[in-house]
Amino acid sequence: MKIQIVEVGPRDGLQNEKEMVSTSAKIQLIDKLAAAGLKRVEATSFVNPRWIPQLADAEEVLKGIKRQNEVTYSALVPNLRGMERARESGLTEVALFMSASETHNLKNINKSIEDTFPVLRQVAREALALGMRVRGYVSTVFGCPYEGNVPIDNSRRVTNELLEMGVFEVSLGDTIGVATPKQVREVMEKLVKDTASDRLAGHFHDTRGTGLANVLAALDTGIRTFDSSIGGLGGCPYAPGAAGNISTEDLVYMLNGMEYETGVDLNLLQDAGAFIQQELGRELPSKVLKAHLAAQSASSSHSNQEDGA
Ligand code: HMG
Ligand code: MG
Repeated sequence: MKIQIVEVGPRDGLQNEKEMVSTSAKIQLIDKLAAAGLKRVEATSFVNPRWIPQLADAEEVLKGIKRQNEVTYSALVPNLRGMERARESGLTEVALFMSASETHNLKNINKSIEDTFPVLRQVAREALALGMRVRGYVSTVFGCPYEGNVPIDNSRRVTNELLEMGVFEVSLGDTIGVATPKQVREVMEKLVKDTASDRLAGHFHDTRGTGLANVLAALDTGIRTFDSSIGGLGGCPYAPGAAGNISTEDLVYMLNGMEYETGVDLNLLQDAGAFIQQELGRELPSKVLKAHLAAQSASSSHSNQEDGA
């Protein structure tokens, strides 16, 4: 059975890094992710650069990558200004985003939920008229850093509004990584019933170590698309304490082992993880990447010993 992985590391991951990552490193990372077989890569954001300076080089990044025909590159777009920038960059997919909880929406995009709908509707209309695919995100589905519990009716309402705008898929975000498999099963089952499992995706942050378990729970409800981030990079600058997304290496390792088809070459993926870890100069959370690098360094010290013998 096929699973689609949406690689969000260059966007969700790098938007949260304290140190600026060079444009050239971002370009190399995106090209390595595509080479590893990822077919959907969220490359950057066309948001206000004063809010997210880390991704202010969106245009240069998209100009620099070697676009592969079979790969869809996407970017977050919050308003018509962002849409204009995405159009000029030649993207064929954009992603709208908003929250299920009022306070997170306000902190993240400076508007109430009600005032966000018409802005996103305009963006969707324009993108669809240009022949683009439009994805939607709902943040804080499983809990809000400011409001705590988020009623499912909030998520249902925002999901339905996004679908009515014409998005092909809604990614349901556990922005601060509070969900447990029981909650994921309950929420996803309800939302799948309203819509269809192939119009929904799971976007899990791994703040409390439940990320992969949440993927398994979502798989049980029929969800077949998951967002993840190389090395487990990530967070949300407007969600205090949010840690990285589930790591793409860990997700691919688990899914391949369970005989799902991901189309991703784990070796090449690990090379991409090692590359960005080296660029950032700190150890990334991915467990599979850690194990891979430890095995590599053990085998190189073993062969050095043999050479010396
Ligand atoms: P605002 O400041 O209210 O916007 O921001 P504004 O419309 O009042 O404009 C203010 C200035 O910003 C103007 O410039 C605009 O031109 C400029 P000035 O006239 O002052 O010189 N501006 C822009 N410039 C470039 N590109 C743009 C743009 N828009 C306005 N697109 C806005 C409102 C939504 C733009 C702002 O709040 C923003 O950029 N927020 C983005 C925050 C963000 O990126 N958060 C992280 C992504 S979401 C996430 O991580 C969650 C997710 O992963 C799922 C999950 O985990 O749950 C997706
Ligand atoms: Mg996120």
